[in-house]
Amino acid sequence: MLSLDAAFLAPNVTPELVAQQTERLALAHATLTNGTGAGSDFLGWLDPAAMADDALLDEIESIATELRARTDVLVSVGIGGSYLGARAVIEALSDSVDRPVLFAGQNLSARYHTELLKSIAGKKVAVNAISKSGTTTEPAVAFRILRALAEPGCIVATTDKNKGALRKVAGGAGWRTLPIEDSIGGRYSVLSPVGLLPIAYAGIDIRELQRGAIACARACAEPDPKKNPVLFYAAARNLLYQQGFLIEALASFEPRLHYVLEWWKQLFGESEGKNHTALYPSSVEFTTDLHSMGQYFQEGRRALIETFLIIEDGEPSLTLPTGDNADELGYLVGQELTTINHAAYQATALAHREGGVPSLTIRLPKLDAYHLGFLLYFFERACGVSGYLLGVNPFDQPGVEAYKLNMFGLLGKPGAKISQEELLAKVGAAGDEAIVRF
Ligand code: PA5
Repeated sequence: MLSLDAAFLAPNVTPELVAQQTERLALAHATLTNGTGAGSDFLGWLDPAAMADDALLDEIESIATELRARTDVLVSVGIGGSYLGARAVIEALSDSVDRPVLFAGQNLSARYHTELLKSIAGKKVAVNAISKSGTTTEPAVAFRILRALAEPGCIVATTDKNKGALRKVAGGAGWRTLPIEDSIGGRYSVLSPVGLLPIAYAGIDIRELQRGAIACARACAEPDPKKNPVLFYAAARNLLYQQGFLIEALASFEPRLHYVLEWWKQLFGESEGKNHTALYPSSVEFTTDLHSMGQYFQEGRRALIETFLIIEDGEPSLTLPTGDNADELGYLVGQELTTINHAAYQATALAHREGGVPSLTIRLPKLDAYHLGFLLYFFERACGVSGYLLGVNPFDQPGVEAYKLNMFGLLGKPGAKISQEELLAKVGAAGDEAIVRF
């Protein structure tokens, strides 16, 4: 379903070097599988079939069908793990989408939300407010702005089963709700109601998505790194980090994967970036970025590794037409664009390897719901193993709180832990003289 091409990892990482890690890998794998490590309360995603059983899938599909019948557009309101998974799937599979899903609550920009309001004016709107805690400021603000636009029967709150402000408001207003289990953290929640309702509203087959994830869960149960791609990927990035590489760039040649790259960055960044450690996850979209970042990849500071994400099918067919050869493209007439794009990938991987950037290629046979489900689960599982290899808890995110505490204090939220006065003094501590005016 998915293959790893490790040719350009050598000599930094070879199958022999990975084999030497077998014991550590088996331990990290067992820690995750048996739920004996840090954060083991958050492993509800490990079994995708249990995370959304048949009854829950039926419920999600029936809500999606009813909302599709009653509305023109869904606005999905959430941030971080309550946002990126749905967007990644909907944009990657845009050829299967037959109903628009827009996104709000992932920023606090007045311009963004004003334009969004304009774009849905006069339309029948459904709103899905998604927040596990139910207290996150960005989606709460956006939801307050948006909810008056939808009929109460077209509002769904996806949140904690019992607690949180969103649960409370939803109960009072009589909106429909979908549950987020305690054991599922935001960035591992795309295949739960968090991601599945917006994805189903868009017209994408959520059962196929889940089927792909279940297939990956089976394939990744194997503790031998030679047979388990999750262990191989986790080992490779860990070995490279130990060798002094600091940045992993996930690179794609398919613009539709833009939000898959964003989702991946959150997954690894929020899971591993702790105790002043971990590879910094970044992304590049080629060939576009070859003309902006390509120079740095080839000759900048040698701290980069690259993971190419390649879709193997040659679809859709689009060939270069004949024409005046003044543009010197005669040698490509009749060639498929995907063949030309593939040559660009091969050329890039080779050039970067020769420039000192080791790379791994993840190949996915097709870009459909099944294979995407497989890929998302592959990364989630790899992230769990990789976090344990690194010695961090891959399932918490204590660092995300720091800015929130400051923001609550600055805005004067009742009960804020730091006072507005103290924060304003700190923010202005540098004094007016530090501002350079022109
Ligand atoms: O992965 C995570 O846990 C975070 O990105 C959260 O999903 C994000 O902060 C939003 O939280 P909530 O769903 O509680 O609004």
